[in-house]
Amino acid sequence: MVAPLLECRNVRKDYGALAAVDGVDLSVHAGETIGIGGPNGAGKTTFFDLISGLTPASGGDILFHGRSISRIPAHKFLPMGMARTFQVSSGFTSLTVMQNMLVSILFGSGLERPDLRIQTKHRRRAAEQLDRFNLSHLADTEVAEIPALARKKLMVATAVAHEPKLLLLDEPVSGLMPPEVDSFIEMVLALRKSGICIVFIEHVMRFLMTVAERALIMHQGKLIYDGAPAGIASDETVKSVYLGSAAEELREATQ
Ligand SMILES: Nc1ncnc2c1ncn2[C@@H]1O[C@H](COP(=O)(O)OP(=O)(O)OP(=O)(O)O)[C@@H](O)[C@H]1O
Ligand SMILES: [Mg+2]
Repeated sequence: MVAPLLECRNVRKDYGALAAVDGVDLSVHAGETIGIGGPNGAGKTTFFDLISGLTPASGGDILFHGRSISRIPAHKFLPMGMARTFQVSSGFTSLTVMQNMLVSILFGSGLERPDLRIQTKHRRRAAEQLDRFNLSHLADTEVAEIPALARKKLMVATAVAHEPKLLLLDEPVSGLMPPEVDSFIEMVLALRKSGICIVFIEHVMRFLMTVAERALIMHQGKLIYDGAPAGIASDETVKSVYLGSAAEELREATQ
């Protein structure tokens, strides 16, 4: 059998007495698209921080391509084939969209000493990436000036500039209007078609239900559901952790 692309074995993160991630076991295979839901404070972002090497685990092991990555520093992850985005839009706001893309292309190469001279091949590659994500018309605009949807798309575009095998997206559509969510769905479905494995966290259930082939629900640091997105709404354990308006949203989105 083919080894999982990503494997988490009894992974945990303790902050004092709080188990933010409490013994998670998970296997992710190449080509899968997985959506992670769960209430605020469930440990979803902390779980991504562990997978992407931003914070050390308190216990357990994480393997990527069958090799333990628990002690590898975060800056080595992109050259290894793992990229991520963040819950709050990141990016260099005083640089233009094109300059942001060039930074990603030059510094994500994995070279210990990237050549800082921007060459025609870098510009060509950057232009191609912007075109792929419909951002060409904003190439010369400072990131501080571009709309929220474009900022979120740019974060994904820079993350995938080096064609990672695994892409982690933390709440990619939070704060977007419904038509903008549709545009993001289209973009992620196109990425999915390219064969990249995508694991994302999302509260917007419509996005999760449309994009994910497999859904996970996290609660108090544990995985309480792992299965088909369509089964979330009828799962008794999941229902018991969603209260009030969140329960209503869950019901509507999964009908
Ligand atoms: N650096 C930290 N120090 C102490 N506690 C932390 C730290 N980071 C996260 N926590 C706590 O860990 C728990 C999980 O937080 P996390 O941000 O992972 O939740 P989440 O599921 O991503 O929530 P949300 O949906 O609101 O983004 C929370 O109780 C949070 O307060
Ligand atoms: Mg979070």
